Amino acid sequence: MSTAAPTAKRRTRDTWTSQTGFLLAAIGSAIGLGNIWRFPGVAYTNGGGAFLVPYLVALLFAGIPILWLEYAVGHKFRGTPPWAFRRMSVKGEFLGWFCVFICFVIITYYAAVVAWSSSYVVYSINEAWGNDSKTFFLSSFLGTVGSDEFSWTPVLAVSVPLLLVWVCTLLIVSFGVSKGVEKANKVFLPLLVVLFLALVVRALFLPGALEGLNAFFTPNWSALTDSKVWIEAFAQIFFSLSVGFGIMLTYASYLKKNSNVTGTALVAGFANSSFEILAGIGVFSALGFMAHTQGVAVSDLQGLRGPILSFVTFPKIISMMPGGPLFGVLFFSSLVLAGITSLLSLLQVVSGALQDKFAMQPIKASLVMGIPATVISLALFGTRSGLNTLDIVDNFINNVGVVGCAVAMTLFTALVRPRLAGLRKHLNSVSAPAIPPVWDFLVGIVIPAVLAFMLISSLITSLREGYDEYATYLVTIFGWGSVAFALIASAILTLVPWSHPQRTSTTPTDQEMA
Ligand code: PFF
Repeated sequence: MSTAAPTAKRRTRDTWTSQTGFLLAAIGSAIGLGNIWRFPGVAYTNGGGAFLVPYLVALLFAGIPILWLEYAVGHKFRGTPPWAFRRMSVKGEFLGWFCVFICFVIITYYAAVVAWSSSYVVYSINEAWGNDSKTFFLSSFLGTVGSDEFSWTPVLAVSVPLLLVWVCTLLIVSFGVSKGVEKANKVFLPLLVVLFLALVVRALFLPGALEGLNAFFTPNWSALTDSKVWIEAFAQIFFSLSVGFGIMLTYASYLKKNSNVTGTALVAGFANSSFEILAGIGVFSALGFMAHTQGVAVSDLQGLRGPILSFVTFPKIISMMPGGPLFGVLFFSSLVLAGITSLLSLLQVVSGALQDKFAMQPIKASLVMGIPATVISLALFGTRSGLNTLDIVDNFINNVGVVGCAVAMTLFTALVRPRLAGLRKHLNSVSAPAIPPVWDFLVGIVIPAVLAFMLISSLITSLREGYDEYATYLVTIFGWGSVAFALIASAILTLVPWSHPQRTSTTPTDQEMA
C-alpha cells in the first residue's frame, strides 16, 4: 500500500531546536505541583531522612529505567504513543490512546489547581484569607459542598482564572513544539528556579527553620521495614517524574536523530529529585517557623500535604511572618509556573496524538482538544463540588490509570519486537552512558511486578473501602468513571481510521526513520 499520496505535501515533524531545549522541557514536565506539595509531606510521614533510601532505590531502579524506556520508544518510533506503539504492533494503538486519555483527564483538573494558585498570587498581596485560612479556602473561595453532594453551580473566582489558564496554555501549544512549548519552557523553568530559590533562602532564615529541618530529615529507620513506605516511594517517583503514561515518550519523539538520550534522562531525573528535596527544605523550614511561633512541636502540625498544605497551611504561615505578602507571591507564582510547564507536556501528548492520526496542524489540534477539555474542566472543577471531584479523580486516575498504563507499557515493550534488547541497542547506538543489559530484566520483570502489586493493592482497597469519606455514587461516577472514560475513549479512537497521508502503513519507512 502506498503510504503517501503523490500530491500530499510532505510535512516534516517538528523538532526541538536544541538538546537543551528538550532537557528544559523534560525537566519542566517533571517538576510540577507534585514536587512542591506532595514530596515534602510524603517523605516526612514515611520515615523522614530514612525515606531517602527507598526513594533513591525507586529513582535508580524504576524511575530512570522507565524514563529510558519512554525515550527509546519515542525516539526510535518518532511518534506520540498511539503512533509509536502502533508501529511496534497494530494492537499497540489502544495502549497509546489510553496514555493520551489519561493525560486528557489529568489536564482537566490540573488546570484547576493552577487556576487556584494564580488567584492566590493576588490574594497574597493583602492576605485576603484573614485569620482563618481554612474557612476562606473551603467556603469563601471554593464554596465547597459536603462530601456526599455534587453541584453544577459555578464558582466565578475559580472559573475566570481557569478559563485564562486554558487560553494561555492552549495558545502556547498551538504554536507547536519548537516555537511554543520549547520557548515557553526556556522562560518559565529558569524563572521558577530563581523564584523558588529565593523562597527557600528566605524560609531558611526564619526562626524555627532548623527545628523544621530536623523533623524532616531525622531518619526513622524502622520505616524501611514497612512495605507501605516502599510503595509510597515508587508512587512518588512515578508521579513526580511524569513517567509511565507517555509524556516523556512524546517529548522524545521530537528529538533529532542524533541526540544523547540516556545522558539527558539522567540529568532530568536528578534535576527533578534535587528540586523535590529543595522543596522539602523550603516547606519544612516554613513549617518549623509555624510550630515555633505557635509554641508546638512540628510533629503536632496538621495539613502537611496536598491542597491543604498549599492553600490552608501556607497562607497561615504567610500571615505570621514579616514580609508575608512577598513570600506568598513567590510561593504561589512558583506553583503557577511549575504547574504550567507540566500542563504543557500533558497537552502536547493529546495535541501531538491528534496531529499524528489526523494530520492536523497544531492550531486545529489545540482547538479540537481544547474546547471539550475546557468545558469539562469548567463543569467539573470550576463548580462548588470541584475540590471533592478533583480529589476523587486524581486518586483513581493516578493509582489505577497511570499505574495500570505503566504495567501495560512495560509488558508490551518487553514482548513486542524489537523488545527491550532492541530498544536498548537503539539507545546505546546514539547516546552515552551505555545502558547495561540488566535494564531488560528490570523493565521487563521487576518493574511490572512491583507496579502490578501496587495496582492490585490499590484496586482491592478502593473496592473494599471506597475512597475517603466520599459518597459511593460520587466515587463510582468520578473515580471508576474517569478510568472507564479513558478506556472507552481509547477504544473509539483506535477504531477511527487513520487519515494522515504518511501514517497509514505501520511499516516504518526509511524516510520516517530519518
Ligand atoms: N510530574 C508533574 C508533577 O509532579 O506535578 C506532572 C504530573 C504528573 C502531573 C502526574 C499530574 C500527574 F498526575
